[in-house]
Amino acid sequence: MDVQALLGVQHQTLPEKYKQLTDREMELRIQEIKQELGEQLFIPGHHYQKDEVIQFADTSGDSLQLARISAKQHASYIVFCGVHFMAETADILSSEHQQVVLPDMRAGCSMADMADKKQTEEAWEILTDMLGDTILPLTYVNSTADIKAFVGRNGGATVTSSNAKKMVKWALDQKQRLLFLPDQHLGRNTAVDLGIPLEQMAVWDPIHRKLEYEGDLDKLRVILWKGHCSVHENFTENNISYIRQQYPEMNIIVHPECKREVVEQSDYAGSTKYIIDTINQAPSRSAWAIGTEMNLVNRIIDQHDDKHIVSLNPYMCPCLTMNRIDLPHLLWSLEGIREGEIHNQIKVDQNVAKEAKLALDRMLNRS
Ligand code: 13P
Ligand code: SF4
Repeated sequence: MDVQALLGVQHQTLPEKYKQLTDREMELRIQEIKQELGEQLFIPGHHYQKDEVIQFADTSGDSLQLARISAKQHASYIVFCGVHFMAETADILSSEHQQVVLPDMRAGCSMADMADKKQTEEAWEILTDMLGDTILPLTYVNSTADIKAFVGRNGGATVTSSNAKKMVKWALDQKQRLLFLPDQHLGRNTAVDLGIPLEQMAVWDPIHRKLEYEGDLDKLRVILWKGHCSVHENFTENNISYIRQQYPEMNIIVHPECKREVVEQSDYAGSTKYIIDTINQAPSRSAWAIGTEMNLVNRIIDQHDDKHIVSLNPYMCPCLTMNRIDLPHLLWSLEGIREGEIHNQIKVDQNVAKEAKLALDRMLNRS
């Protein structure tokens, strides 16, 4: 039994016949189906998708842009080229008649998997016993629908890397403290940007059910869930020192999922959209080292031959789960829609969706 089956995730696998097709054959068939389905079909693509997929996206964007667009979509079929939590968000924000498809169910997110419902409820019980009704939960959108629902029913909201600062500030205006799930790095980087000292931040370890904190509990403002992105974790202070020594003129720009030390020593940090916009606006012949996923870094390099751009870590791999979406899976999804046989539909349980939507709406109304 594979891991997905053990986790109870229902998915269908790609039929063999798609593996025999050439890229050109698949591209032509995808173009044809897109034309045929017209406005009934919408394909959003996250910036980390491969070029072979992004060429067919009706829109590409960061998580906030894709969530906003999903909320406004009227198409009957949304074929989400991204990862599972993004497709869940699209399903939660779309209406009953719309169907959301994830071309390959194995496109998960290791960070989202670092906080499950049981662990979160357990943590909440312990933390509220310890600190009373002083905590507001916030979750990065890179989390499962269950976690968004937990946050929604406890008065909190979702955040993305584009609006984290605004949302953390909002949370701390309501309550004395916040619990930030599941990415400790985005939480810590954002809180530091808002002037909160590291001594007022603790880490919740969900495996050992333990609060890692040595300071005075009365002063505690931010509780960071001990989760991280396994892609961005691979950018290190050594990568920064190397770039600073070899190319002193180079600007370093990173995603805020990178560790505190890396963000602190970089020149700029922000969402995928922020990274793209910053490089677009940079002068010709400027030099950049980028600390984010490789499909996006390579695309930026290809689009800017007037600039010197490198990956902050030359040995980086792409996000392997984002990479699960490829031409064969996209074609298979579209052919399924045309034939009236939907594969890998994402359908969030109605009760979960209702509470998760509270958390998403609190964010969308403020950003
Ligand atoms: P953005 O919202 O910046 O696109 O980030 C999404 C993501 O998964 C980064 O790893
Ligand atoms: Fe998840 Fe990291 Fe991949 Fe983003 S890059 S989808 S956070 S594993």
